[in-house]
Amino acid sequence: MRMQSNEPRRGIHMLLLATFLAGVAGCTPATVRGPAPAAGPIEAAAEPNWQGGGMVAAANPLAAEAGAEILRAGGSAVDAAVAVQAVLGLVEPQSSGIGGGAFLVHYSAATGDVITYDGREVAPRGATAEMFLDADGKPLRFFDAVRSGRSVGVPGAVAMLELAHREHGRLPWRQLWRSGITLAENGFAVSPRLNELITAVVSRGTLPADSAAYLTLDGKTPRPVGSVLRNPDYAATLRRIAVQGARALSEGPIAQQIVDAVRADPLPGTLTLEDLRDYRPNRLEPVCSQYRVYLVCGMRPPSSGGVAVLAALGILSHVDMAARGPQTVAGWHHLIEAQRLAYADRDTYVADDRYEAVPIAGLLDADYLASRAALVSPDRAMQRVEPGRPPGAAVRGRDSSGGTTGTSHFVVVDGRGNVVSMTTTVESLFGSQRMAGGFFLNNQLTDFSFTPFDDKGQPIANAVAPGKKPRSSMSPTIIFRDGRFELAVGSPGGHAIIAYVTKSIVGMLDWGLSPQAAVDLPNVIARGLVVAEPVRMDPAMIESLRAMGHQFRGGRSGGEVSGIHAVRRLSDGRLEGAADSRREGKVIAVPYDPAR
Ligand code: GLY
Repeated sequence: MRMQSNEPRRGIHMLLLATFLAGVAGCTPATVRGPAPAAGPIEAAAEPNWQGGGMVAAANPLAAEAGAEILRAGGSAVDAAVAVQAVLGLVEPQSSGIGGGAFLVHYSAATGDVITYDGREVAPRGATAEMFLDADGKPLRFFDAVRSGRSVGVPGAVAMLELAHREHGRLPWRQLWRSGITLAENGFAVSPRLNELITAVVSRGTLPADSAAYLTLDGKTPRPVGSVLRNPDYAATLRRIAVQGARALSEGPIAQQIVDAVRADPLPGTLTLEDLRDYRPNRLEPVCSQYRVYLVCGMRPPSSGGVAVLAALGILSHVDMAARGPQTVAGWHHLIEAQRLAYADRDTYVADDRYEAVPIAGLLDADYLASRAALVSPDRAMQRVEPGRPPGAAVRGRDSSGGTTGTSHFVVVDGRGNVVSMTTTVESLFGSQRMAGGFFLNNQLTDFSFTPFDDKGQPIANAVAPGKKPRSSMSPTIIFRDGRFELAVGSPGGHAIIAYVTKSIVGMLDWGLSPQAAVDLPNVIARGLVVAEPVRMDPAMIESLRAMGHQFRGGRSGGEVSGIHAVRRLSDGRLEGAADSRREGKVIAVPYDPAR
């Protein structure tokens, strides 16, 4: 592996050093050895003379515009991310917000550093391994758990953005909240998707009174498309955050509102003011592996996303995917099999690594992935896919918890070439459906396994514990070629995020598709039975895959709810973005301006 020698690149340097030291000391390294690269440097390099302009790709036009406005004012990618999140929490409250959590991958063009920020929710001190079991020791029904107070983790998104802004912000923190405040005060038009998802949540008949008053006209009629929705409480909360920072949510009146909402019936949670006060976001090294000529960097635990996407790519690196395009049965067959293997390991071994020894290096070890790739037949589906035993792994039970679709992903590239790839979530639609301060509280703790042991009595790595973070699938990713920024991508979608992101990377890097064409490819999720997006996947392709032995889940279930947003740098230096047409997103380019 050849390294570039000219720039500091602290994040990745530390990561390589940690790998080396860990190898010497025989302990679990912080990162991984991927399949041997074909060529090229394995580090992200500095690029101080960036002239590619900026770009925002986000799930809602108002949020994308808020980010673009910050870029036009000379803001950094992190500055814009704060503005995007402030508006997403208002216009797309079903997906993310200041009552939820997030992961952010950051590339600094000035130094070449790649670093990640962890704003994942934590379980309160009062959480127990049995809190999602009923009086008979059976798991609660999923939606009963979702709308319970027990599902709410300590929110982390704002604290994480505050930390990232402290390190990479250019504009004053206060300025970044203005678009959100103005929109919340003046109102915004309810979009078709927001109306559709209000309709979905109202049809369950479970909304607390304040949420129903906000989302409906009369407690049951969803706010119609195009009607103007104002949220003065949210505006007031953002004003406080603009002045006080994340502290506005962890102490004082809004913190008390959060605690009161969590401790309300049904099934109150245990969250306290101390839990809110003690929350700290983390700055973590990324996990990075080589995929062909690319360096792919993502989130380490508590997300399983980075490890699982890298594992799937590591398995695919044993196949010439470029020769098996999206029109070929072989291309989809290999994509499915790589996913099945990666999901089996991820379900078994990945959890919050402050509580569980997660064998990250073993899961991404080149020899181990070669042994997993060798299980794939070129012309038959594997009968059963079991987790492997990667180097360093303890015996663990398999966790089938999934996660749902209340998540959003966006990408920002700023005028200096810095990149943010951020996935942000309240977990289910409108999170726990509980509100405080004009925003929805997450139900992230239902991402834990509801049971502490599997049916063979093996302990489950992703069991609930106080202070622990539930395993995520969120996969914000940044990819480099020859040390230079190449691509940033991610998606919402619960456990399917891993499939959506892997597909998009293969679509662009192996199949040579534009970002939009790669995002538009059918979604095929292979965790257990295969789900193929019914409206996009050619039935003849599905029949051919069935003939190879692949078993599909029938009907229209799943696959169509991705929200992939990507920005790629073209060979001539220009940026090209994609917004998933399955949602309402938008890409906005901000031309290069030497004065900024
Ligand atoms: N709640 C979605 C995820 O963290 O994967």
